[in-house]
Amino acid sequence: MSKKILLDKINVPGIKTYEVYRREGGYASVEKALKTMTPDEIVTEVKNSGLKGRGGAGFPMGMKWSFIDKKSGNPRHLVCNADESEPGTFKDRYLMEYMPHLLIEGMITASFALEAHLSYIYIRGEYMWVYKILENAIKEAYAAGWLGKNILGTGYDLDLHVHVGAGAYICGEETALIESLEGKRGNPRIKPPFPAISGLWANPTVVNNVESIATVPYIVNNSGAEYAKIGTEKSTGTKLISASGHVKNPGVYEIELGLSVYEFMNSDEYLGGMLDDRPLKALVPGGSSVPILPAHLIYKTANGDDRLMSYESLSDGGFATGSMLGSGGFIVYNDTSCIVRNTWNFARFYHHESCGQCSPCREGTGWLEKVLHRIETGHGREEDIDLLWDIQRKIEGNTICPLGDAAAWPVAAAIRHFRDEFEYHVRFPEKIKNRDHYVAEP
Ligand code: NAI
Ligand code: SF4
Repeated sequence: MSKKILLDKINVPGIKTYEVYRREGGYASVEKALKTMTPDEIVTEVKNSGLKGRGGAGFPMGMKWSFIDKKSGNPRHLVCNADESEPGTFKDRYLMEYMPHLLIEGMITASFALEAHLSYIYIRGEYMWVYKILENAIKEAYAAGWLGKNILGTGYDLDLHVHVGAGAYICGEETALIESLEGKRGNPRIKPPFPAISGLWANPTVVNNVESIATVPYIVNNSGAEYAKIGTEKSTGTKLISASGHVKNPGVYEIELGLSVYEFMNSDEYLGGMLDDRPLKALVPGGSSVPILPAHLIYKTANGDDRLMSYESLSDGGFATGSMLGSGGFIVYNDTSCIVRNTWNFARFYHHESCGQCSPCREGTGWLEKVLHRIETGHGREEDIDLLWDIQRKIEGNTICPLGDAAAWPVAAAIRHFRDEFEYHVRFPEKIKNRDHYVAEP
């Protein structure tokens, strides 16, 4: 059984409440950090842990913290990115809904490490009920003296606010999130400067994902070295995975990194195998932005090694034969799934969510959607497949923020691995037009 450090107490009755959370040892990391550690010592522990950011990019968290400009004398901010919107990803929602105090504890300890006195949780507008849970938990934390002035009599002050987004996926991009928090339209900024140098109100700012921040209490309580013993050498720790699609047990799981994809897919502890025991056709392991894997590359890498749930193994072989761990949005498709329809669906999403600032993304995502739609509805032309390939190539790497890449990669991977399905759509339009759209042709 995988070690659990985030969801280990999820089944304790009443763990959502301050009283039970505290009785179970909650807020110990705040006491330890504020009373016995310096901010820089905490940053060192997080660096030693090897923790990679859990939002999707996997950037080393301790390194990001060490970029923060503490010398400028400007106020510093910690912003928690709870704008979880990547299709297939719902693990932060689960964590916040059932363990709200774990996130708040992490926010206090991490804010102290960054010497921040005003921190925010930016939550997506669709999570209104979770917002209310967080607001209530923050009120409890203030009442118990963990937030506000002179916390634990140490002289450290911290205010924590929750800000609700208005339903734009792009506000999960850290600089768009900062713009939105400042009360502006959520348009991504050009980087550099990175937020660590100039972020919220031009102050040094760290933007971290919910799961990353919720991991800080374990690291502070047990040390970075202890955390690094979990998982693999390059993918330390545990990861929350939100699993959906054609599996027997969809849901949110905490796994130890390095678990084999086969075991995750098939053991009763996790997904329990394919729904109705139908054949596995494809898998998106890390949210809609990452390349889809066809069946023959799911359990084994191109080299024949076991494919593992880790940053390095899932990306093994690059995008030709690999994918990414990304945000941990694990979407499983059986043999009845239509890859063209799925790719069109993703493209429609990215087109809708493009902020429109840069032409390759604004125009390109629209083209991808239109061309995929005509292929999917039986009006495609033979040359459309190469046209799609050409459009995605022109988007990738040519935009201000990663939304452009996120729109391009799923299209590239679908054509690379399932070109025959696109060709079938183009060559047999009558069969496509007359079918039930949710059932793929053989
Ligand atoms: P990124 O790779 O541009 O940046 C990663 C982080 O490292 C950022 O916080 C950035 O400020 C920091 N950083 C990188 N180089 C730096 C430097 N030289 N100095 C200071 N800081 C530096 O990726 P980004 O935009 O943060 O995330 C993209 C990923 O987000 C995608 O791969 C996708 O998987 C994921 N995503 C997740 C969603 C979710 O709902 N969880 C939604 C949408 C995307
Ligand atoms: Fe906006 Fe798309 Fe450009 Fe990102 S890549 S800034 S979403 S237009």
